[in-house]
Amino acid sequence: MSKLVSGFSKLNKEEKIAWLSNYFLKDNVNASDILRLYWNSDKKLQQLHDDFIENTVSNYYMPFGVAPNFIINGKHYTIPMAIEESSVVAAASLVAKFWSDKGGFKAEVINTVKVGQVHFMYDGDKRDLQEYFSTKKFNLIAVTNDITENMRKRGGGILDIELRDKTADLENYYQLHVTFETQDSMGANFINSCLEAMAQEFKKDDIQIVMSILSNYVPECLVKAEVSCEVEKLHPTNGALFAKKMKQAVDIANVDPHRAVTHNKGVMNGIDAVVIATGNDFRAVEAGVHAYAARTGKYKSLTSCKIENGIFTFSIEIPLALGTVGGLTSTHPLSKLSLEMLGNPSAKELMQIIAVAGLAQNFAALRALTTTGIQQGHMKMHLGNILNQLEATQEEKEAVTKELSGKTVSYSGVADVLKKIRA
Ligand code: MEV
Repeated sequence: MSKLVSGFSKLNKEEKIAWLSNYFLKDNVNASDILRLYWNSDKKLQQLHDDFIENTVSNYYMPFGVAPNFIINGKHYTIPMAIEESSVVAAASLVAKFWSDKGGFKAEVINTVKVGQVHFMYDGDKRDLQEYFSTKKFNLIAVTNDITENMRKRGGGILDIELRDKTADLENYYQLHVTFETQDSMGANFINSCLEAMAQEFKKDDIQIVMSILSNYVPECLVKAEVSCEVEKLHPTNGALFAKKMKQAVDIANVDPHRAVTHNKGVMNGIDAVVIATGNDFRAVEAGVHAYAARTGKYKSLTSCKIENGIFTFSIEIPLALGTVGGLTSTHPLSKLSLEMLGNPSAKELMQIIAVAGLAQNFAALRALTTTGIQQGHMKMHLGNILNQLEATQEEKEAVTKELSGKTVSYSGVADVLKKIRA
């Protein structure tokens, strides 16, 4: 074998690791041990993880934490979060507690429509195409009957099929734009199977199908969440100033894309962590959410803030295509446990929970940024990582933490204190 390999997927795990160690990790004598260290000792569980993807050589751990004290629409939740960034779960927990005695979070699903498209080329007469579509529309639905049977029993299925003329954007380009209701499943496989069956039925000599695929842009699968309270309740001494600065922070994100991207990254800290913990597709969510943030032609904040008649309201509106059945949600033991922890929510309820997690995270970030600055809390949480990097013992960790209590944490500061202790 060489660096260029064929039949790699057919090798067993040990053989794959040996090949990797030989060709790409040969300077690291510990490489194969590290990979093995992360295998699960429960063989069946490890096999499950091996089977999720091709060429699995190990597992990649991420911390799985929980943020308690969330009240959403009057119901108590402890929210599971899978994330590596030190301060995210702490921030979510703090904000949940903060709003728990101010009425909690309110959330509402606006709609749940998902989209798929058959993209095709046609250079004939548009009226002929329209007529062909009209005569075929019934059949396009009929050919998916077997695929949609179970979904229809659950109240979902195909909502509509439209012929869209895109020739103004690209010569000869048209679409079948199909809308779906997929109930509690994210529906990617369901949608793609329907689209491929439709494409097969629709194609003819002068219609060249280019591709059939769902769209991860789902502006009609939308959820809204908000918190609100009297301005004075926001801060022990100066609620009005606090509210004003929070609003200014959102206003800035609405006019400056550089800031908006970071602002929304903070929102996604909360969203992705719950999306991952519940076994949902965070790449799909990320892509769809950012496209939504740019829907006006300018990339803007996903959250809004208003102060009216002495009431501060902070809200979020985002598209979220999620599932609570099927896929990883039903196979990964921790995803199943996450959903159980949330009371086995419907996809709609999960949309609300995840929107709240995003809103809470943004509130935490803006609160820190406009008051103490972000580094105080962030570095406090990051201290543990620095100490681990410096290979501090438990005793050393406790001594450094005590020494730095109330002080600003930096890598060099921690290293200095540790050096003194070790001396
Ligand atoms: C860091 O992960 C997220 C923040 O940068 C978000 C923000 O700036 O709003 C703190």
